Amino acid sequence: MSQDKRLLIVEDDLGLQRQLRWAYEGYDISCAATREEAITRIRAEEPQVVTLDLGLPPDPDGTEEGFATLEAILQLRPDTKVIVASGHGAHESMLKAIALGAWDFYQKPIDIDALGLIVARAFHVHGLEQENRRLSEWAGLGAGLGGIVTGAPEMLKVMRTVERVANADVSVMLLGASGTGKELLARGLHDASRRKGNFVAINCAAIPETLLESELFGHEKGAFTGAVKTTEGKIELADRGTLFLDEVGDIPLPLQVKLLRFLQERVVERVGGRKPIPVDTRIVCATHQNLEDMIANGRFREDLYYRLAEIVVRIPALHERAGDPGLLARHFLQKHAQTMNPGVRGFAPDALAAIDAWQWPGNVRELENRVKRAVIMADGKMVSALDLDLAAPDHGQPINLKAAREHADRKAIRHALARADGNISGTARLLGISRPTLYDLMKAYDLQP
Ligand SMILES: Nc1ncnc2c1ncn2[C@@H]1O[C@H](COP(=O)(O)OP(=O)(O)OP(=O)(O)O)[C@@H](O)[C@H]1O
Ligand SMILES: [Mg+2]
Repeated sequence: MSQDKRLLIVEDDLGLQRQLRWAYEGYDISCAATREEAITRIRAEEPQVVTLDLGLPPDPDGTEEGFATLEAILQLRPDTKVIVASGHGAHESMLKAIALGAWDFYQKPIDIDALGLIVARAFHVHGLEQENRRLSEWAGLGAGLGGIVTGAPEMLKVMRTVERVANADVSVMLLGASGTGKELLARGLHDASRRKGNFVAINCAAIPETLLESELFGHEKGAFTGAVKTTEGKIELADRGTLFLDEVGDIPLPLQVKLLRFLQERVVERVGGRKPIPVDTRIVCATHQNLEDMIANGRFREDLYYRLAEIVVRIPALHERAGDPGLLARHFLQKHAQTMNPGVRGFAPDALAAIDAWQWPGNVRELENRVKRAVIMADGKMVSALDLDLAAPDHGQPINLKAAREHADRKAIRHALARADGNISGTARLLGISRPTLYDLMKAYDLQP
């Protein structure tokens, strides 16, 4: 069955049938003159749109046969857009047809241009509905872990890993670019675990070095000027819960030593305190830095790395998650339209195309921000590429054939690597190339398994 726009014309006046077929030749057209023929065509060709004359034999002057045909069509394929045409007792027939599920109504004598517009709109709406349905089916797949929305196999795999390790008390390191959802996954991991305590997050890059120690470990009253009362640190606050160390690569070396000691002995000593306090917490950390490089340069302790990274989870960039930009865009549009601009219903086709083409350097965070802003700015029902600020030439897109090929190669290799769990032979097999060729390409494009 072709993906084309298939139009079925149900009309017993053969002259009119010919005229319509000629007028709408841009569609893939078939015709039927009776209910039986119409049903056969529906079964065989699954047209998206049908124009239906209500006056069909054996009742060409009435409407009964036409209504029976309408019901039969919708029973077979409920999402078919049926446009009913009739000259008989127009108003009443219209109400009845709409009640039976017709999509629109048209009064004879037929004006080819006006009916043409209705037909075109019917195809458009049918297309949007299919797309919506596909997306909401996808959206269901990712449910269950902390509100993470995805339909991409790469990301579903990440979520399955997180769910699997949730109840094992191992430390988890989340690696991903900015805005890929590291914190969301860390929360999801905590929620999926049996830990009853709090989820406590601390961004190690956002706190001045001098304060970080007391933030993490707490301090006793009078430990330093300004320590007016005894304060628990984040580690203690996460007792029986989960401690999320964001930007763990930014912890200065002296504090790395102290953190390592905590991980080995599972007790904290507050700044200025004497007695060790036992704490049972699960450590999840994240960074966008390359810790291996930092270890090589002596800026991150290797022994701490292995304590923190019992399980390493790599979160793919948004543009590597097939289908997710559109899916998430719709999710955020619904979320923000509700509170900020309820008139906004969806994306114009140019917006959807722009969303697919954009590289999303800021990942989900950038996407949410753009959609949110666009929802506020939109003055119609549909958000346009311009509202999203994506109408300008897309600098994220390759500009010549060589760059386009390289872009496509990179993407294919990264997908295959993810699917083969980084295994080189498996990846080469998936891509249908030899191992040496894969090695050469990975070297040329600077890709890691
Ligand atoms: N898959 C997803 N589904 C729904 N919302 C998401 C998803 N991924 C991220 N978000 C949302 O996008 C925003 C950014 O996510 P988050 O803060 O977890 O990213 P991050 O990797 O920690 O980013 P950064 O490196 O900038 O700190 C948050 O508002 C989060 O709720
Ligand atoms: Mg974050």
